[in-house]
Amino acid sequence: MLLSVEDLSVHIGVINPLSDLSFGVDRGQILGLVGESGSGKSLTAMAVMGLLPLIGGRISAGRILFDGTDLAKLPEAALRGYRGRRIALVTQNPMTALDPVVRVGRQVDVMGRMHLGLSADEARRRTIELLTRLRIPEAQAVCEAYPHQLSGGMKQRIVIAIALAGEPDLIVADEPTTALDVTVQAQIIHLLGELVRDRGLGMLLITHDMGVVAQVCDQVAVLYAGRLAESRPAEALFEHPLHPYTSALIGCIPRDGMAPGSLHGIAGAVPSVARYPAGCRFHPRCPRAGEICARQTPELTELTGAGRLACHFPLEGTHG
Ligand SMILES: Nc1ncnc2c1ncn2[C@@H]1O[C@H](COP(=O)(O)OP(=O)(O)OP(=O)(O)O)[C@@H](O)[C@H]1O
Ligand SMILES: [Mg+2]
Repeated sequence: MLLSVEDLSVHIGVINPLSDLSFGVDRGQILGLVGESGSGKSLTAMAVMGLLPLIGGRISAGRILFDGTDLAKLPEAALRGYRGRRIALVTQNPMTALDPVVRVGRQVDVMGRMHLGLSADEARRRTIELLTRLRIPEAQAVCEAYPHQLSGGMKQRIVIAIALAGEPDLIVADEPTTALDVTVQAQIIHLLGELVRDRGLGMLLITHDMGVVAQVCDQVAVLYAGRLAESRPAEALFEHPLHPYTSALIGCIPRDGMAPGSLHGIAGAVPSVARYPAGCRFHPRCPRAGEICARQTPELTELTGAGRLACHFPLEGTHG
């Protein structure tokens, strides 16, 4: 396993927005981390990148094993050897990721020079190769452009090029296409999928869009209010979701005894950190909730096939 997150908990001051999170990312694979707004997806990305101190947060329990090393235990100075070089972050908003006053070619070049020790000429040659690989037409000319001269889709390709230029092993992509229109979104998602498989990278793809996940992910981890609800191979999860929340996210009609369509669009919202309910945090919104759900947190259980599930009343009764 390239990245293995084990029982991760995050605190920001006294609040505990993420608990007991576990998932793994293999080389050549994409793990989709999904959940509604506020579920803890970006905090997970920040934890993996070692960036929690920037927002006054910290890893309070668990391990982040990257290629065998526990990043959670490394001091900042050591983390700098990983960030950008071995683990690269692609964020949602290209306008904040790009420097508006530097030509985009140089912004890509600098990664190869800094992380791989390339000469200026060699770095530029690689930049042009990379932009061409990302299907940017006239890559040479685009290198001379400033970010504001490029379309949103082009800018996001440049952000991806910057991430790839240091030849990382793992890409953490936090809503990489959310700011783009749907057709461009699909192109970029497919491109990312191709790169991951061709280069044997691992990718943690964070999104609230189950459609995107269905298109490219091998594994899916579903977060709800800072806890893992369900984590399984994508195909199985889409075919037979076990957690009612997963099922609601997919928008499928649950089986036994429920009014058809009653889960389409989940009423209510993810509770804020200060108001997490007792028991299963999803129970106030869950159509299958029983009395125990309000009292007892469902344990995260390893499934006999593959994956994990935390639910007292899963959809198919194949629990454990
Ligand atoms: N700097 C911070 N200080 C305090 N609480 C925070 C901070 N950043 C995030 N949180 C809280 O942690 C929880 C998870 O936030 P996170 O940003 O990880 O959500 P998310 O799943 O990425 O949501 P979105 O889909 O909106 O990006 C939220 O309840 C949020 O209010
Ligand atoms: Mg986020």
